[in-house]
Amino acid sequence: MELSLLPPDIQDAHRSFPGTLAACADLDALMRLKGAFVGREGSHAARLMELLKAAPKDQKRDLGAAVNALKNEWDQALKSRQAELEQERLRLAALASAWDPDLPPPLPAQGALHPLNRLMNRLVDVFRPLGFHVEEGPEAETEAHNFDGLNIPPDHPARGSADTFYFKGQDGLLLRTHTSPVQVRVLLRIGARGADGRSELERRGGIKFLAPGRVYRKDEIDPTHSPMFHQVEGMIVGKGIGMHHLKGTLAYAMKALFGPGAEVRFRPSYFPFVEPGAEMDVRCPLCEGAGCRVCKGSGWVELLGAGLLHPNILAYAGIDPEIWSGYAFGMGVERTAMMVSETPDLRLFFENDQRFLRTMGGLD
Ligand code: DAH
Repeated sequence: MELSLLPPDIQDAHRSFPGTLAACADLDALMRLKGAFVGREGSHAARLMELLKAAPKDQKRDLGAAVNALKNEWDQALKSRQAELEQERLRLAALASAWDPDLPPPLPAQGALHPLNRLMNRLVDVFRPLGFHVEEGPEAETEAHNFDGLNIPPDHPARGSADTFYFKGQDGLLLRTHTSPVQVRVLLRIGARGADGRSELERRGGIKFLAPGRVYRKDEIDPTHSPMFHQVEGMIVGKGIGMHHLKGTLAYAMKALFGPGAEVRFRPSYFPFVEPGAEMDVRCPLCEGAGCRVCKGSGWVELLGAGLLHPNILAYAGIDPEIWSGYAFGMGVERTAMMVSETPDLRLFFENDQRFLRTMGGLD
């Protein structure tokens, strides 16, 4: 196009036209620009028409072509920018009508206890009215507490580095493989004699406690195994404690946990720190004994190991097994949580997907 035929200020305006057009942020600005370029009066286009009218005949053709081309270019560009801005205005209007100022603002997400912690809290609540309090022990534990004090022989396979995480270069320090070392810690404390020659055990006349917590084993991760999991240990020391106390207490606790219809059964079993030792099953709470995937068709699910305190573990802590007796049990928390919540894969408890955690009912 032959710009040189046009007045210099219109040439300048034309050169900066694309930038000015793009800078129009709304339709009002665009209409002002449109007025200035192609408006009926006083616009660049109107001035060009007057120039054209006044031009000598021999220049009319070339000037006319230039003026027409310019006007067309401006018209097209203005039109397409107008369509864009109209589109944008509709989009904003739709957004504005979707926003309801009367709706309450979304609440910030609140923290909540993890389902495993809720279940452990519930277990503590079940035993608390029976006189049990909570004791704790460290997760980094000594071989003495984790094994020796529990009458576990030096050559027992559980002590091997294939099953147990040992701390490198820290002799005898390991990640506890069960919550039973809390028994040893408590027994050593309550068996120790004070300045008056009496022990805490003698002063109290007995003790009952639960010890919930994390434990570690070198297990491969699969739907029912994890190298870190949770147990709740229970223990009672007193005088004349027998299997009937153990069975009565646990049967009561299972009814509190699973409902009044809960049934339990005990099978003889072996653990070095109890004698006699037993495992306790509950009637499968999911199928009520009919047989399902969770109880593998047997109608029963193993829930815990238990037994009467072995005289050696009392003696290790300086407590006379001729006078004192007791029972202990250790329960798998994940396993119980899986049953109560009908969760088929324990890994869900550790992935902490909010969608899963939010669906966890029935645990408290
Ligand atoms: N500590 C055992 C384990 O982790 C479970 C256990 C069995 C605990 C018998 C006890 C008990 O207190 O008496 O497999």
